[in-house]
Amino acid sequence: MKTNRFSRIGFILAAAGSAVGLGNIWKFPYITGENGGGVFVLVYLLTVVFIGMSIFIAEVVVGSSTNKDSVSAIEILSPEKKKYWKYTGMTFITGIIILSFYSIVVGWILNYIVLSITALPTNVSEAQTAFLGLLKEDISSQVIYYSIAFLIIAYTISKGVKKGIEKLNNILMPSLLIILLVMFFYSMSLDGFKQSIEFMFYPNFDKFEANSIIIAVGHAFFTLSIGMATILTYSASLGKEVNIVKASITVVSLDTIIAIVAGIIIFSVVFTSGQEPGKGPGLVFITLPAIFYEMGAIGNVMAVAFFVALAFAAITSAISVLEPTVMYLVERRGMNRSNATYGVSILIYLLGLFALLSNTNEYSASLTFGTKNLFDWFDFITAAIMMPIGGIIIALFVGYIMDRELLRNRLVPYMGETFFKVWLIMIRYVAPVAIFILMLNETGIIKFK
Ligand code: PHE
Repeated sequence: MKTNRFSRIGFILAAAGSAVGLGNIWKFPYITGENGGGVFVLVYLLTVVFIGMSIFIAEVVVGSSTNKDSVSAIEILSPEKKKYWKYTGMTFITGIIILSFYSIVVGWILNYIVLSITALPTNVSEAQTAFLGLLKEDISSQVIYYSIAFLIIAYTISKGVKKGIEKLNNILMPSLLIILLVMFFYSMSLDGFKQSIEFMFYPNFDKFEANSIIIAVGHAFFTLSIGMATILTYSASLGKEVNIVKASITVVSLDTIIAIVAGIIIFSVVFTSGQEPGKGPGLVFITLPAIFYEMGAIGNVMAVAFFVALAFAAITSAISVLEPTVMYLVERRGMNRSNATYGVSILIYLLGLFALLSNTNEYSASLTFGTKNLFDWFDFITAAIMMPIGGIIIALFVGYIMDRELLRNRLVPYMGETFFKVWLIMIRYVAPVAIFILMLNETGIIKFK
């Protein structure tokens, strides 16, 4: 009856599109740099495989078993009198907040595509001035690019699963893979390539602290888009016949490989020009553009390719953040898809404007609360608190509340009895405890140092 469903490959590309985003290409390289490389990468990989993948599979099971929006899905799978689980719908708020600041960064990236063609900064200090100028002074450019980003995101979602989400991902994801692959092969010819590989894979305990483990766990959540019903919602548009375990493993692997490839490319460039790896969030917007300039014409090509890839990755993630709320409004509240999309988008757009202004010199004073401005609060509250809570809820729901036989029927044919048992242990014990510790740390209640 329902024709608006992903094909198998469409789902894999869309879920990978959601997972692969700023988290992989912007954040993973810089947190790897800050946390000393190899050991951090190893801990991140272990977390992704054991905790991240388990919750990812849990979300896919819930979505694909019901083919409903996230609130209805949880409600259907709850036994009698447990209807309060439907309040998992609060994850929509997580999505609304994430999208409001994520789209601002998409706007910066679009601006940097133009800069890469027209005027790359000639050295790091100029690059710093340019980036801070955009961030703190140039409200009109930011608003223009932010608005363009929003139009692309909302237009895609308004077109629905097949004609919007699947179609866009079918074009952007293969293009992203090709761009990254070409850049990867090019980076192999750079002098810094060997050093980059060593840095990423050779264990160096110097900068690695207990806190790095927590950063790795938090990042595993963000990068896999879990804990806010995104993967659950995409899986709701998936046919029952699909091997959900294989699909999940494919998506998680793609996400991980792309993060590592992006890291190798970026550090090859950084080491080739003799820079330091631990450059923090400015790595992509400050250090890289300056290095690209030094590389001459090939640098310009690299810069355009890099920011286009980053834009593709970020846009396919951003649309996935909007879909849970829109699907809910359409399926549960009977709204027309276009109205639902544009209604929610306008709300998020306005919220985002405040976050955007909170970075600017002119308005930062009135939009800073306590230690952080609104933009940083949005990032912090979602990544450190709301996504982990969403993750615990889904793990507990699937591990303790959902019918065990249904789970068994959905998963054992694809993963076998032994792995099913291991997965249950992960979902019931390991993931909730690990996430809980992560949250306590991020909110400062306990501090690992
Ligand atoms: N996974 C995306 C990234 O790595 C971000 C994201 C978070 C997307 C939550 C959807 C939901 O950038």
